[in-house]
Amino acid sequence: MTDTMTEATHPQVLIFDTTLRDGEQSPGCSMTIEEKLTMAHALEELGVDILEAGFAIASEGDFAAISSVARAVRGPRVASLARARREDIDAAARSLEHANRARIHVFLASSDLHLEYKLRISREQALAQTGESVRYARTLADDVEFSPEDATRSDRDFLVEIVRVAVEAGATTINMPDTVGYSTPEEYGAMFREVRQRIPAIDQCGVILSSHCHDDLGLAVANSIAAVQAGARQVECTINGIGERAGNAALEEIAASFFVRADHYHLRTGIHLKKLNAVSHTLRQIISFGPSPNKAIVGANAFAHESGIHQHGMLANPLCYEIMTPESVGADSTHLVLGKHSGRAALRHRLEALGHSLSPEELLEVYHRFVALADRKKNIYDQDLIGLLTHRDHHSGEMARVD
Ligand code: KIV
Ligand code: ZN
Repeated sequence: MTDTMTEATHPQVLIFDTTLRDGEQSPGCSMTIEEKLTMAHALEELGVDILEAGFAIASEGDFAAISSVARAVRGPRVASLARARREDIDAAARSLEHANRARIHVFLASSDLHLEYKLRISREQALAQTGESVRYARTLADDVEFSPEDATRSDRDFLVEIVRVAVEAGATTINMPDTVGYSTPEEYGAMFREVRQRIPAIDQCGVILSSHCHDDLGLAVANSIAAVQAGARQVECTINGIGERAGNAALEEIAASFFVRADHYHLRTGIHLKKLNAVSHTLRQIISFGPSPNKAIVGANAFAHESGIHQHGMLANPLCYEIMTPESVGADSTHLVLGKHSGRAALRHRLEALGHSLSPEELLEVYHRFVALADRKKNIYDQDLIGLLTHRDHHSGEMARVD
């Protein structure tokens, strides 16, 4: 299922996946060429629109990985990152030589902090470098994205200036990153509105605005959605939200949000939601860690219920506690976990699934023993339940035989 199937009339938000670039450059996430290729194929099947495969000038390995991905992937556009320098842009263009559809992604910091301490250049130099590098990149590719790094901490007038220069130089996408995860949804959305309003050429020339959010304050997804509500039509994100420091906006959360709350956002993506869990799993196998159990959409507990009240509600009607089916995002079916918070409804349900129908009195008796066991043991498995039945059988001789 894609959300395109439900609401084909809703405008589409492009999904720019940067798992293989921003994600890969974070601790514990580096990938070999073969691993990047495996991920690239999974992302293609998932339906991402743009796939950022790496930073070509960073290393020979990264260059080779981008080239291999560009040869292998036919559906998504393949992007290669470059600083605003000729040698970076040349390397990016060469790495994309065999791409079906290529994008050069040029970035240059726009905040005074970065200009002064990291790049040691003036605002004027930054404007000149932006114009030159975007113009040059356009001689090598007809699709060029420009990112003013640290956009959210940049002087607003200067941000507008640098974006204007990039648009006039031929940038086809303008991505305004919240590089350090500092922004709030209100501020981030307002920044997009202001830039759009002060540079009419963005809309007049069909330049796509893009969000790129880091999760330092846990707001990456909320900020990305705020940008989209302010007119951005591309979201940069990663599988499982991996990325620098606290990570990037999680692709699965954004795609599921636009699907589950299509009534609110009136937007869609081209993501095949049923493949979300498989892609998350593929990434988990490649890098050194998986998502936390309580991670939305792809965490092990995303569709698990332990408390008695929730389990009772789920058995009566899953809508009580689930806003999407696990199947819709490719997860295993709802899991009612038996533990010390569970009630009789879930116990009866599980025992029946195991082939044991108990009278209310029998159930109550087994339930008391179950609670006592659950107080001592974190996880209760089917064997434990069967043990409880045999135990009862042993004492009273009333229960059916346990096979
Ligand atoms: O976070 C950031 O600013 C980036 C840019 C290179 C787009 O990753
Ligand atoms: Zn980033």
